[in-house]
Amino acid sequence: MHFNGDEPLYEALYEHIKDAVATGAMREGEKLPSKRDLARHLGLSVNTVTAAYDQLVDEGYLIAKERVGYFVAEIENLHKKIAPAPAAPAREAPAYDYDFDLNKNADYRFPDNHFKKCLQWAAEQKEPLNRREKEGLAELRGAVADYLKASRGVDVEAEDILLSAGMEYLLLILFALLPKDAPFRLENPGYIGLKKIFEQNRVPYDFMAVDEAGVDPDALTGERSIYLVTPSHQFPTGSILRVDRRIKLLNHVKATGSYIIEDDYDSEYKYYGRPIPALKSLDGVDRVIYMSNFSKSLSPTLRISFMVLPRPLMARYRHLSPGMNCPIPNLVQLALARYMREGHFERRLNRQRKIYDERRKIAAEAFLGDDLFSVDDKRAGMHFILTCKVNGSEADLLAYLKKHRIHMKGLSDFSQGEAQEDYPRLIVGYGNMSVDQLKEGLAELKSLIKNFSAAS
Ligand SMILES: Cc1ncc(COP(=O)(O)O)c(C=O)c1O
Repeated sequence: MHFNGDEPLYEALYEHIKDAVATGAMREGEKLPSKRDLARHLGLSVNTVTAAYDQLVDEGYLIAKERVGYFVAEIENLHKKIAPAPAAPAREAPAYDYDFDLNKNADYRFPDNHFKKCLQWAAEQKEPLNRREKEGLAELRGAVADYLKASRGVDVEAEDILLSAGMEYLLLILFALLPKDAPFRLENPGYIGLKKIFEQNRVPYDFMAVDEAGVDPDALTGERSIYLVTPSHQFPTGSILRVDRRIKLLNHVKATGSYIIEDDYDSEYKYYGRPIPALKSLDGVDRVIYMSNFSKSLSPTLRISFMVLPRPLMARYRHLSPGMNCPIPNLVQLALARYMREGHFERRLNRQRKIYDERRKIAAEAFLGDDLFSVDDKRAGMHFILTCKVNGSEADLLAYLKKHRIHMKGLSDFSQGEAQEDYPRLIVGYGNMSVDQLKEGLAELKSLIKNFSAAS
């Protein structure tokens, strides 16, 4: 046996003998070494061995026979503990040196000191901590409503907002609220990973194509549907749904009794001009369900997302879910509400925009002036699409980069059906590395693509 130095010695010895009895390594009736012998053998004091033996006697694993010694007790039906499997190997180091993943951002360093103070403050607020509000705490819903009014042009009140722990949970709620006969229509390319949640819940869905100006409403059928779109910053192409298409889409929705789910993921990050107003801000018929989250602005691990529900749907939700509770801990909701009210969130966003814009410029400029590359930089979000005019396929190029320890995705990872692309299109996420690391990574990426091109 060995001692790890953290636990008292007698406890280590006690655990060791208990385990030996439970696994059958020491048999019933077997005599244990005398306290003095064992102490000498293990280099422990007799007191330590006595403490371990006494504890095991108290618990019934050993029997002490006066002047004879200690024996393993007979324990009827002792459920023999299987010897523990060897510990899982320590988590392997990542298999890459440079991570261009588009959904990660290294700057989330969260919680920051302001948020920690807000958490401390929230921990002392008795009444709201014990409150049950199934839409989420009014304090945070109010802060989110004010933020949406000021920054996204969406005119809402706290009572229109529902908070939950991620987009999947918001969708699960919508599956219960929306008409069952209306299939979901998802953008292609788009957030293809969502497919699973539709399949698991047996909700019908299909895809609609997206071009340079977003979804084309003229190409939609007259069937009542639920359109899931990313109008302000199409995911992952970055295109903006043109205003004429926005109006047509809203008219189409009104005429067919459909709904739009506006996923506004990522749209806080636009590095020129004014923000693109949310589609919801044009919604005169209350058929747009607006969704967003704090996954990029604070941390994807915080798991706080929210939606603005049209009033009839909110009424249905309240009626449907009397026993439900919002899955985000009240402590965290309260802290975030205060963080927003005190202006920390706004200041953080402003700081972050500068940081990511600098990285964006570095990343886009790295490929300029070289005919092999064409950068489609929309000056928004945390990624752009890089067309590589090489001979091989996108899958082969990605596999080659992976072999050389570069992690990134291609447009085909977000597309459904056969790719029609002439050249590989890589998605360069620049949010996940420091400036120095990013520069190194870009140089490596460029030279690997050139090597791949020369060899293919
Ligand atoms: C386009 C898009 N919308 C929404 C989400 C999910 O966000 P949440 O953290 O709210 O689940 C993602 C996550 O990758 C995404 O890519």
